[in-house]
Amino acid sequence: MVAFKLLALTTLVACVTAQNATIRYMPFGDSITEIICWRSKLWNKLQGTEWATVNFVGSGKTENNCRDAKYDRDHEGHSGFLAVNIANNKQLDGWLKTNPADVITMHLGTNDLVSGNKPVADIIRAFTTLVASMRTSNPKMKIVVAKIIPVTYTAANTQVQALNAAIGPWAQGLNTTASPIWVVDQYTGFSVSGDLRDGVHPNDSGDTKMMNVWYPALILSMMWGVLLNPDSV
Ligand SMILES: *[C@@H]1O[C@H](CO)[C@@H](O)[C@H](O)[C@H]1NC(C)=O
Ligand SMILES: *[C@@H]1O[C@H](CO)[C@@H](O)[C@H](O)[C@H]1NC(C)=O
Ligand SMILES: *[C@@H]1O[C@H](CO)[C@@H](O)[C@H](O)[C@H]1NC(C)=O
Repeated sequence: MVAFKLLALTTLVACVTAQNATIRYMPFGDSITEIICWRSKLWNKLQGTEWATVNFVGSGKTENNCRDAKYDRDHEGHSGFLAVNIANNKQLDGWLKTNPADVITMHLGTNDLVSGNKPVADIIRAFTTLVASMRTSNPKMKIVVAKIIPVTYTAANTQVQALNAAIGPWAQGLNTTASPIWVVDQYTGFSVSGDLRDGVHPNDSGDTKMMNVWYPALILSMMWGVLLNPDSV
């Protein structure tokens, strides 16, 4: 059994590394996906791997003084946007129609809590709508959802913790083999005093931490896509 499993795993890994398909990756969220430098760090880290051909997609091309002329700037980060409004206005449907994706990361909810004062239950309901949009656009969408980074405002941060606690069970309930949802924890280990530049957005140290949390999940989601749906990528 053990030998068989090892052989099977080796074969799977060989298959995965043999593919050089162009995978479309959409970084989706608010300003913590738009006016940051973790996208630059993530793209650069991927350049040294088998996944260097990944194509970042989205309608935005924001540069945030990352001093990086090379990276693929395409993204779907919208500063100031609330998850609840994106869901109610069906905006993700249009964004994915213009820029279809195979893999998507979502870091959302900060504006809902800080400026919108929305209840956690409303944000989770919006997340469900957003996942439905992703799967309508691509039934095999690989989805990575973040437990979001902390904010310095104490009251809002209590709500950030409540949202993050709800994300795990919510994602489990919507998980499918064709379109898995992986939850990554951007909260734990992120320091409000050392990793934020303005109480909400990561500074260089925070960008590095966020990149290091996205990176293994993004690799896993891309491998999963190649393994289960070789024709889809
Ligand atoms: C995929 O890319 C790697 C690294 O560039 C290369 O060594 C390999 O030959 C390529 N495989 C295929 C099937 O094109
Ligand atoms: C969803 O399924 C995938 C594949 O089995 C698994 O790796 C992942 O942890 C699951 N997600 C959740 C939130 O349980
Ligand atoms: C990040 O921001 C904090 C607070 O503003 C500061 O103390 C720290 O030196 C900054 N670190 C980096 C690497 O920018």
